[in-house]
Amino acid sequence: MAHVIAVAGKGGVGKTTLCGMLIQYLCEQGKGPVLAVDADANSNLNEVLGVKVETTLGDVREEIAQAELAKVSPIPAGMSKADYAEMRFEDALVEDDDFDLLVMGRTQGKGCYCYVNGLLQTQLAKYQNNYPYFVVDNEAGMEHISRGVLPSMQTAILVSDCSRRGIQAVGRIAKLIQECNMHPDTVGLIVNRAPQGKLNEGIQEEIRNQGLTLLGVVPQDESVYEFDCEGRPTVELPEDNPVKKALREIAGKLNL
Ligand SMILES: Nc1ncnc2c1ncn2[C@@H]1O[C@H](COP(=O)(O)OP(=O)(O)OP(=O)(O)O)[C@@H](O)[C@H]1O
Ligand SMILES: [Mg+2]
Repeated sequence: MAHVIAVAGKGGVGKTTLCGMLIQYLCEQGKGPVLAVDADANSNLNEVLGVKVETTLGDVREEIAQAELAKVSPIPAGMSKADYAEMRFEDALVEDDDFDLLVMGRTQGKGCYCYVNGLLQTQLAKYQNNYPYFVVDNEAGMEHISRGVLPSMQTAILVSDCSRRGIQAVGRIAKLIQECNMHPDTVGLIVNRAPQGKLNEGIQEEIRNQGLTLLGVVPQDESVYEFDCEGRPTVELPEDNPVKKALREIAGKLNL
């Protein structure tokens, strides 16, 4: 069964960047194939990984949920809705050498998605037999996990920037994980974009206040930011990049 690693935190703290590097790390360690799941409605994990996405699961969910209302049903005669959905979910899987990517995407939210979400849940549960790891890039609320569409996680990596408010935000996510009875084996914090890779006393104090376990600190690095601005995939950064090095060290300690 796949080990599910969920990455979460406040907006813009570097979740997607670190997710991409973690996926690359697992692949380099020969732990693939990894299923990368972009569960953020504003999806862009594919850009960090340098792959193109044509269909999102949101597109498929929309298509299935609206199929009955459509003038011409997309579902071929003689094919069940469930079989059609499974085929389309497979179309949405972007395949690369060591990892595959699924983008949850979004739906218009007007139709009823219960049925199709159920089918998706079954499909994702099946994928758990095909991949040793799922790495899920979440939005702060971790909706797809808390609603059970995505399988529950063994490892939660909470990402914060070097601010008190960022630490407080992940403190709330840590509580949400407990309240939703998700029971991961590991819940840990990565502080990203730390000036010179160091934490000041105020941030350390806030981490203690929130009762969080610090996995490691990742430095602020201009080349990560520049790659992003130039639209170059983060995973193409050189091996000795300080952010890549810091992430590799943290992932190594997690014993994945
Ligand atoms: N360690 C770092 N040093 C410099 N820039 C960084 C670092 N980590 C992330 N960034 C930059 O910060 C910006 C936000 O990063 P990213 O998109 O990974 O955050 P996010 O948490 O996924 O955001 P969102 O909540 O919008 O999904 C990007 O421009 C990224 O290149
Ligand atoms: Mg993101």
